[in-house]
Amino acid sequence: MISGLLTILFLIDHVSAGPGTTPNLKHIVIGRCYDYITLVKPSSRYNCEDIWREFEEAVVRRSPCSVRVKDYQRMFRATSQTLPCDKLLFWSKTRELMHSYAAVTGRFWTLEDTLVGFMFNDLVWCGQQERDRGFDFQSCPDWSACVTHPVYSLWNRASLNFAAAACGNITVLLNGSIGNAFNRKSMFGSVELDNLNPRMVNHVHIKVIPNLEGPFVESCSKGSILELISVLESRGFRWSCTDRDVTLMILQCMKNPKQSSCQSCSSSLLHRKSLHL
Ligand SMILES: *[C@@H]1O[C@H](CO)[C@@H](O)[C@H](O)[C@H]1NC(C)=O
Ligand SMILES: *[C@@H]1O[C@H](CO)[C@@H](O)[C@H](O)[C@H]1NC(C)=O
Repeated sequence: MISGLLTILFLIDHVSAGPGTTPNLKHIVIGRCYDYITLVKPSSRYNCEDIWREFEEAVVRRSPCSVRVKDYQRMFRATSQTLPCDKLLFWSKTRELMHSYAAVTGRFWTLEDTLVGFMFNDLVWCGQQERDRGFDFQSCPDWSACVTHPVYSLWNRASLNFAAAACGNITVLLNGSIGNAFNRKSMFGSVELDNLNPRMVNHVHIKVIPNLEGPFVESCSKGSILELISVLESRGFRWSCTDRDVTLMILQCMKNPKQSSCQSCSSSLLHRKSLHL
């Protein structure tokens, strides 16, 4: 009897899983919005209170697992943004490295540099079915629990908009230490790639980046990267691919200078420098 009850509790817990809405969600979202329009991109004109209202409208009137992409339509209208050409950076399973790469080079725009990406980065939210509405701060369903997950739907649309706006050259960072570095189920493989416009995008720079210590699973000539290349070709994109990007390797070495591959990296850089002198 007790063990049966425990099993049921366990199952319930297992279905709903995830943490609840991020505490202080409203203050964080509106605060980030003001940060963005005041300090990050001071020339932008947005109504942060309006954006919050549209967001809340999309989420709180619905049960936690039934917020569709199109429920955010009005919010996306209130946050529409023109993105710069030649700067967009896409990525999959390389989040940490992507962040340092974008910060150090200073010339890329990731999804998190857009207003929507900036406002909602790392946050969790869902509504609750009860009549008093509002956000559920106790628990939210797992991303995988439903196709119309409130967090997933927002990122889905944000990613789609980001890709559809891409122009000029774009860059994609993929993880060479995992199988399926190009994964059709990832945001990049399922949403972004299909929404890139070959008439607007000149050139796709693919950078495959394995961990310094390996494993070396995929490269420009191996694994799912070949599948990505064939999709790009079939849609008429020009592309190039590197699996030895020096900047990215140096960034990895800065985090992990004792790695043996970093010794040769620094000595070859010194060598190159001495040749110039
Ligand atoms: C590649 O993915 C693995 C497993 O998720 C992760 O530990 C590693 O940091 C990733 N490597 C890069 C270069 O992002
Ligand atoms: C775009 O990429 C192509 C191919 O690598 C390069 O020749 C061109 O200079 C790049 N343009 C810009 C604006 O970065």
